[in-house]
Amino acid sequence: KRVAILISGGGSNMLALARDMQGDHPARPVLVASNDPDAAGLARAAALGIATAAVDHRPFAGDRAAFEAELLRPILAVEPDILCLAGFMRVLTAGFVRRFEGRMLNIHPSLLPKYKGLHTHSRAIAAGDAEAGCTVHEVTAALDDGPILGQARLAIRPQDTPDTLARRVLELEHRLYPAVLRRFAQGDRGRLDL
Ligand code: GRF
Repeated sequence: KRVAILISGGGSNMLALARDMQGDHPARPVLVASNDPDAAGLARAAALGIATAAVDHRPFAGDRAAFEAELLRPILAVEPDILCLAGFMRVLTAGFVRRFEGRMLNIHPSLLPKYKGLHTHSRAIAAGDAEAGCTVHEVTAALDDGPILGQARLAIRPQDTPDTLARRVLELEHRLYPAVLRRFAQGDRGRLDL
């Protein structure tokens, strides 16, 4: 299976996916694309020999469809079977999502359906939750809302700040996402809880 990965920043989740695919694996990364030409993850992907592309979303101002039409070019050029959003921070229109319905995954740093959107860790701490974690889900037109394919959870510690919690959850993400993608690439849609 051919996997294209979309990033916006450091790409640590992209790296975890790419490294897992270096072994015996039903999928391989064929593109890493970003909405930010300066995303550090682009150089990290190139260092692994993965093709990269960047389409700066800022010149498109509020015209999401126009930005997505540009972003689609390098993605369609590699003919991906699966699209993985990994730290990708742009909301995608229903039109874009529809093209990849059923074969687009995202990782979100909360135990969905709790805390869709941003600032998930500060919200969990503020709510006094005992646990936090991350979720891999199929992407649908509704934000952070598609069928859940896997979750990993950990205990929130009394001394946790949003930063310390984010760092520990990120480590879970790096374990969960590769495990879910490996199964998904083999056609297994069952839910994985780590
Ligand atoms: C992190 O906040 C992570 O929790 C979320 O996306 C952000 C950047 O991740 N999934 P990455 O290092 O770019 O993969």
